[in-house]
Amino acid sequence: MPRIEFRPDKLSADVDEKTKILLSARKAGVSIRFACASCRCGTCAIRVIDGAANLSPMKADESKLLGRLTLPTDGTIRLSCQTRIMGDCTVDLTFQNEYDSDIGMENLDDDDD
Ligand code: FES
Repeated sequence: MPRIEFRPDKLSADVDEKTKILLSARKAGVSIRFACASCRCGTCAIRVIDGAANLSPMKADESKLLGRLTLPTDGTIRLSCQTRIMGDCTVDLTFQNEYDSDIGMENLDDDDD
């Protein structure tokens, strides 16, 4: 069973293979900021610290949105609502405070809290 660790709190969870990072956060007791959960806003972007090879391959729509947000598409930044856990990994949630995803928010309602 893969384990994901969330920094900076160093909280972790053992999850079923193919669980999305966004859902695994709930199990670990941490919160990931998100809005659409469907690869439209970029709000859920997180930095991958370790285990990038243990995450599901990036699909074209995720890569396209990251590029639109001028974020790297090399696997160091992933959308937690799209990325599935295939093996052990560590991610950093402080990245969520380091960028502005408003460029991708124009088509979203503001009622997802
Ligand atoms: S929550 Fe909108 S892209 Fe992940």
